[in-house]
Amino acid sequence: MVDIEDVRKVFDDPKASKAIATIDEDGWPHVAPVGSLRMVDENTFAFAVVAMKKTKENLLRDGKASLLAFTSLPQIGGYKVKATFVKFENSGELFDAFSRVLRELGFEVKEIGILNVENIEEIRL
Ligand SMILES: Cc1cc2nc3c(=O)[nH]c(=O)nc-3n(C[C@H](O)[C@H](O)[C@H](O)COP(=O)(O)O)c2cc1C
Repeated sequence: MVDIEDVRKVFDDPKASKAIATIDEDGWPHVAPVGSLRMVDENTFAFAVVAMKKTKENLLRDGKASLLAFTSLPQIGGYKVKATFVKFENSGELFDAFSRVLRELGFEVKEIGILNVENIEEIRL
């Protein structure tokens, strides 16, 4: 059983590296950095679509994703999250919240992707 507030802390940490892996049309893993990825609640993650194309296609076609967030020295650790695609949204409270934050960094959010958590595993070294 993971500490869900610690999961949130790692995904919120600006020093954390974050990635989403999906499955392409040939069955190969497709991995992409995704700085906007956040835990919404213990069952839900969300990310902003700014530049991604292939990841979006893969989620719409296949629906499976693995998420990763980790920090390196001096605080080594992180989490792997198995998730399934729920939907893309281009309006609503969550979309507005992502848009506000990313606009300040100079990025335009096209839509947000919502993922449902299947399983969360802690990474230790
Ligand atoms: C550190 C970092 C963070 C990124 N965060 C995001 C993000 O939150 N949303 C997004 O759409 N693209 C983001 N990108 C860009 C995508 O990872 C990049 O376009 C990648 O090639 C995925 O695109 P694809 O799904 O079409 O392969 C980020 C790139 C880097 C280097």
